[in-house]
Amino acid sequence: MSDQHEKTSEKSSNVVWHDSRVTPAMREQLNGHCGAVLWFTGLSGAGKSTLANAVEDRLHAMKVHTFVIDGDNVRHGLCADLTFSDDDRVENIRRVGEVAGLFVQAGILTLTAFISPFRADREKVRNIVGERFIEVHCNTALEICESRDVKGLYKKARAGEIADFTGISSPYEPPENPEICVDTGSNDLSACVDQVIDYLIRYQFINR
Ligand code: ADX
Repeated sequence: MSDQHEKTSEKSSNVVWHDSRVTPAMREQLNGHCGAVLWFTGLSGAGKSTLANAVEDRLHAMKVHTFVIDGDNVRHGLCADLTFSDDDRVENIRRVGEVAGLFVQAGILTLTAFISPFRADREKVRNIVGERFIEVHCNTALEICESRDVKGLYKKARAGEIADFTGISSPYEPPENPEICVDTGSNDLSACVDQVIDYLIRYQFINR
C-alpha cells in the first residue's frame, strides 16, 4: 500500500496525518483474510456488476468480509455531481480509487464495478492500493454488449440521445496486462466466478 504520509494536498494546509494503533495487518489477522480490491473494468453491459455481485455472494458464503462499490450506485451519491466527460470520469475513478484504498486498509475484500475506461486512471488506483490491486477485465466485445443492451443505452447512444457513450462516442482502453481476464461474453457466470475465486485462493488473498 502506498504511504499516505507522503501525500500533500494542494488545497488543505496545516493537516497532520494521524496513525491509528490498530494497523491494516492487525485487521487482516482478525478477519482471517487479506484486504484487497478486485477492480472490474469493461464496457457498459459487459457484466461487471453481475460478476462482482456473484463473486461477493461466493465470498460471503466463505465468511470473507466484502463490499461492492458499483458505478451506477456511486453516481447517486458520492459522485452525483459528475458527468461522463473525460475529466469527470477521471475524477470519478480518482474518488473511488481513494475510497477503495481506505476499504483495503479496513481489511475488506472490496469489489468495484466501474467502466473506468482510461488506463492511466486504473494505474493511479494501482499505485494507491499497491500489490492488493487486482485488475479484472470483463472482456465482452462491444457487439455483444450492444446486442444485449440490457439498459437500452446503446440504442439511445446510437440515436445521438446520449453523449460521450463508452464504445460509441467515448473511448475504452482495455487493460494490457490484467491480473484476471474473464470472458464474460461467452463463459457462464459460475465459470467466471470460479476463475476469480481460484485466483484469490492461488495468491493467498483468501483461504480455501
Ligand atoms: S466511468 O466511465 O466513470 O467509470 P461508471 O462506471 O461510473 O463510468 O458509470 C457507467 C454507467 O453509467 C453505465 O453502466 C451506464 O449505465 C451509465 N451511463 C450513463 N451515461 C453513460 C455514458 N455516457 N457512458 C457510459 N455509461 C453511461
